Amino acid sequence: MSVPHHVKDLGLAADGARRIAWADRQMPVLQSIRERFAAERPLAGQRLAACLHVTTETANLARTLVAGGAEVRLCASNPLSTQDDVAAALVAEHGIPVFAVKGEDTTTYYRHVRACLEMEPTLTMDDGADLVSSLIFVALKRHDGLHAEVRALAESLGEAGCARLLDGVLGSTEETTTGVIRLRAMERDGVLPFPVVAVNDAATKHLFDNRYGTGQSTMDGIMRATNVLLSGLTVVVCGYGWCGRGVAMRAHGLGANIVVTEVNPVRALEAAMDGFRVMPFADAAPIGDVFVTVTGDRDVITTDHAELLKDGAILCNSGHFDVEIDVAGLRRIATERWPARPFVEAMKLPNGHTIYLLAEGRLVNLSAAEGHPAAVMDMSFANQALCAEHMVRHGASMEHRVYPVPEEIDQKIARLKLATMGLDIDTLTAAQAAYLASWEEGT
Ligand code: NAI
Repeated sequence: MSVPHHVKDLGLAADGARRIAWADRQMPVLQSIRERFAAERPLAGQRLAACLHVTTETANLARTLVAGGAEVRLCASNPLSTQDDVAAALVAEHGIPVFAVKGEDTTTYYRHVRACLEMEPTLTMDDGADLVSSLIFVALKRHDGLHAEVRALAESLGEAGCARLLDGVLGSTEETTTGVIRLRAMERDGVLPFPVVAVNDAATKHLFDNRYGTGQSTMDGIMRATNVLLSGLTVVVCGYGWCGRGVAMRAHGLGANIVVTEVNPVRALEAAMDGFRVMPFADAAPIGDVFVTVTGDRDVITTDHAELLKDGAILCNSGHFDVEIDVAGLRRIATERWPARPFVEAMKLPNGHTIYLLAEGRLVNLSAAEGHPAAVMDMSFANQALCAEHMVRHGASMEHRVYPVPEEIDQKIARLKLATMGLDIDTLTAAQAAYLASWEEGT
């Protein structure tokens, strides 16, 4: 029996199923959680709406949540990141409703968000806070901020239905930095309607996913899109946070000269002491060959900088939203535009220089490549699965705040991951534990 869905082509399911199984081999921590979930069914009776990048790794998370007893619906958290074969396999092989088509327009994107909310979830799982923010706009009757599709849902539910929709949600989990920033703003404004766990802030998430995952997959996206030799080029990394550190480290490893731009003096100092050149963007613009924005901020590369760029400069973004590069502005001033290769848009500027924009300024690692390797998503999604379980157990008694991932979940995932890597560590002796807990011993 077919489940509700909107995917590109169910005929792609066999390919998707093979790739999901391939990723699963690299996700032993999630596998072990899935086995326990299948036995204990901690999510039984839950309706879980997830707005995540539809990748092989997410498919394995969805399978884990279903094994735990949840009814799951999945939509994409970015219009360009969907892997259509994976979406097809989830529907046809795993019976999980998916609403995601790579390249979908904004209306379709929100129609898919709506389809997820229509299940009247008891739990939501976000990568960028689009489900939670849609629910809040519904709750506040702030129809100005609502996309027409979500507004139509609010109208069809009526006042009582909207209240029921909101009251039914026990809590949510959030995958990425930008989502956590948005959720904290909601908490500050007093509009957060239920508790949220900031999965991004777990050590076993951002230290690995944001740094090593984004580092490797961003390089992968740039290389697949352009096939340029990075060795000897100057790569400008805008933002030296967890993602920026990873991008700079991996680009450096490929032989590129790294320039970092920052607004935070501590992060700038760290970049300088890691051996990279640090300067304002206006100084970096004329010397960069490849630019990568990973700030989570807007207007990092604008039309004001365009005339400063070298002929042939490559621009891309790995931050969550497509606001870091002013794509509309660049397109407006371009005298000519043409597709140079898949995921590469050439723009001729008024000064005669041609610049190349990758993946429309959207996440280059997920648009032009496959996103993070499964081995790192193993930890991120282990956090998601265990935090969903935590929310079922404790959500009702939690306040409407953004909570950190419980320390014991973080530690457990690190231990499980070490074990699957065949690594062992030392244990504190009783004397060491007492020493570290005391202040009397000294000199
Ligand atoms: P972070 O907060 O650790 O780092 C961001 C850095 O950018 C900060 O050091 C900040 O000072 C700097 N910054 C802010 N505005 C700037 C500006 N105008 N110019 C230069 N630097 C500026 O955040 P994190 O974890 O590195 O995440 C960055 C973005 O990447 C977020 O949008 C996050 O959601 C996204 N992300 C993307 C992933 C992917 O798969 N591509 C994976 C994980 C996160």
